Amino acid sequence: MDVSVVLAFFLAALAFFLLPIYLRRWKLKLPPGPKPWPIIGNLNLLGSLPHYSIHELAQKYGPIMQLYFGNSPVIVVSSPKMAEIVLKEKDMVLASRPKTAAGKYTTYNYSDMTWSEYGPYWAQLRKICLMEIFSGKRIDSFQYVRVEEMKKFMRSLYASSGKPLPLKDNLLNLTFNVINRIVLGKSYLDDVDNQVIKPEEFKFMFDELFVLNGVYNIGDYIPWLGALDLQGYVKRMKDVSKKLDRFMEIVINEHIEARNKSSVNGEDYVAKDMVDVLLNLADDQDVQVKLQRDGVKGFTQDLIAGGIESAATSLEWGLSEMLKNPKIFETATEELDRVIGQERWVEEKDIQNLPYIEAISKEIFRVHPVAPLLAPHMAMEDCKISDYDILKGTIVLINTWTIERDPNIWPDPYEFRPERFMGVDIDVTGRDFRILPFGSGRRRCPGYSLGLKLIQLNLANILHGFSWKLPENMKAEELNMEETYGLSVPRKVPLVAVAEPRLPSHLYA
Ligand code: HEM
Repeated sequence: MDVSVVLAFFLAALAFFLLPIYLRRWKLKLPPGPKPWPIIGNLNLLGSLPHYSIHELAQKYGPIMQLYFGNSPVIVVSSPKMAEIVLKEKDMVLASRPKTAAGKYTTYNYSDMTWSEYGPYWAQLRKICLMEIFSGKRIDSFQYVRVEEMKKFMRSLYASSGKPLPLKDNLLNLTFNVINRIVLGKSYLDDVDNQVIKPEEFKFMFDELFVLNGVYNIGDYIPWLGALDLQGYVKRMKDVSKKLDRFMEIVINEHIEARNKSSVNGEDYVAKDMVDVLLNLADDQDVQVKLQRDGVKGFTQDLIAGGIESAATSLEWGLSEMLKNPKIFETATEELDRVIGQERWVEEKDIQNLPYIEAISKEIFRVHPVAPLLAPHMAMEDCKISDYDILKGTIVLINTWTIERDPNIWPDPYEFRPERFMGVDIDVTGRDFRILPFGSGRRRCPGYSLGLKLIQLNLANILHGFSWKLPENMKAEELNMEETYGLSVPRKVPLVAVAEPRLPSHLYA
């Protein structure tokens, strides 16, 4: 057959298949957005701090815009109204997650909760969260752990008082210890003689996990470039997941051994930590979707990663902002001295009587959201948002960064001013779409109440137990407030500050 006939036949066949797709797209009403380039789409517009780039684009294109990451359509919503449509009205259809290399390589092929697609497996994990892992009863049962670790943290600050102190390292020790004891049953960092992992190694693994779960990996959006791993992220994901798996195996085996021991002794095994709860579920034959060993490891990893970095990052930002605005220290300590007095530490039940401390924690969430674009959602079906057509497979980003900086909602939005939350009832757990530190709807953070308790109790006691200043020779205006981007947005330059005790010395013993 003549080559030109073959070519004509081929082109006609291509047109036959592609034309309906193009005609359909042409007829669709898509949200406004910048023109995409072939192959890369709008990836060229994302800088090293994507929430800043997206914030600027939202100023130009409005509360709903469409971008392309490579060939993948991405919708960004940037107003409370649009966030409510996505997370409430269309919650179910938009509750899935895109498939990313991070989910594949670092969370046992999407068998954790964060990256698993919406469906029976994810629903099963969520149910366990609600009924078992984060039930009010279980969270309360671990109050003694939070209190013990808070006091240990205060003692460590006391031991370094008067000296410049790298705060993030200390905060991470605190959150590592609390979360590990709740999730894994012990800290795994404290037991120097019996250490299965060195603290630096543990921290490196979870730091790396956090960064790699937040990166924009080109191969996720331009799949034919994936094999080249141009940014080197996939190699790092594979490396860190091997290390994490070694640790997770030790944890699971230790838990299984403890269970076996008690069954040899004829005792009923009582779940003591979250891994125990997951192993009980893995044994349960009646569940709709069986939880495999990889699922237990992936989910355990989620619980550790979710809890550790978010609370430490929020507290470090909070203290940085207050060091720039020392008046806030005065107002907070006036409230603490009046309500708590100088003879004891703040307890969890006191928080409801400390509105200014609560207001500081809300202002930290507003100015420094841990996840400014939440975690990416994905449309499972074609749907409409405010008259615009959203196609199945579209990634949906909820731009809380812009919402929490809207001057029409938050006067002087760039000022850190806790007073804006005084005397007004603004919920931060997903009911008020003007501030969404934990998201809302089906994918809302399941650990929000533990996260809030960790932040508020430690914030209150950091302020109650110590007065804070910057190291000598450093002025407030010199404090660098730049950010870096990963799954959370921590300080680029770790905060160094000096603590001086405020309470009688016997309280630090
Ligand atoms: C300051 C504390 C915390 C903040 C600000 C925070 C924030 C968030 C955000 C924004 C999401 C994504 C919501 C979405 O996709 O719409 C999320 C999801 C999640 N968080 Fe948290 N979180 C915190 C603490 C915790 C804690 C303590 C845990 C567990 C111990 C945890 C475990 C998770 C998990 C497993 C998910 C995935 C949920 C899913 O995809 O269904 N988080 N968190």
